[in-house]
Amino acid sequence: MKKIVILISGRGSNMQAIVQASQSQQWPAQIAAVISNKPDAAGLAYAASQGIPTMVVESKAFQNRESFDTALQQAIDSFQADLVVLAGFMRILTPQFVQHYENRIMNIHPSLLPSFVGLHTHQQALDAGVKFHGATVHFVTAELDHGPIIDQACVRIEHADTEESLAQKLLVKEHQIYPRAVRLFVEGKLVVEGNRVIVNGSEADSCAI
Ligand code: GRF
Repeated sequence: MKKIVILISGRGSNMQAIVQASQSQQWPAQIAAVISNKPDAAGLAYAASQGIPTMVVESKAFQNRESFDTALQQAIDSFQADLVVLAGFMRILTPQFVQHYENRIMNIHPSLLPSFVGLHTHQQALDAGVKFHGATVHFVTAELDHGPIIDQACVRIEHADTEESLAQKLLVKEHQIYPRAVRLFVEGKLVVEGNRVIVNGSEADSCAI
């Protein structure tokens, strides 16, 4: 049984999709804990309702990034996590922290990386006038919103689309690709070769529109 610790900062709908998939598909894995850096994160209630241990490591209570990351690492490691899943976790992590979980920490970013890193990705896509937008699941490296890409999904940008409508359309795709990527990890099917992620001998899925 692989142990997964999920980090959230807010709503936690991706966390919920992962928890549900792990239960309905009977993964060889256990969601060992859901940890939030914000005490009022809505997702904590859902996790607790599923009998998953929850914990708050409040980022505001720490004086600097290093001390917060050290406390967070201790919390994660107390659950003996094999995999750390960032699901709407709104913190920049120190290189030391990321290094500690090399190739066993993943994130979902709401753009087709390497385009549109950082915040407000839907607006960035609209401003750039691109015809496709998407989401990316990737292993986390020290560079923000970079790292070997595990899977991506796309949506077509229509003339009437807004930041809100794109976010809504994309969330549906996020809830498909993120649980799938986590499942591939717990099944031991992901191999990182340089910047590429290989799934069972073939490269990860092509863009699923
Ligand atoms: C998602 O859009 C995700 O891509 C981004 O933050 C949002 C989190 O949503 N990293 P939720 O908390 O999983 O509902």
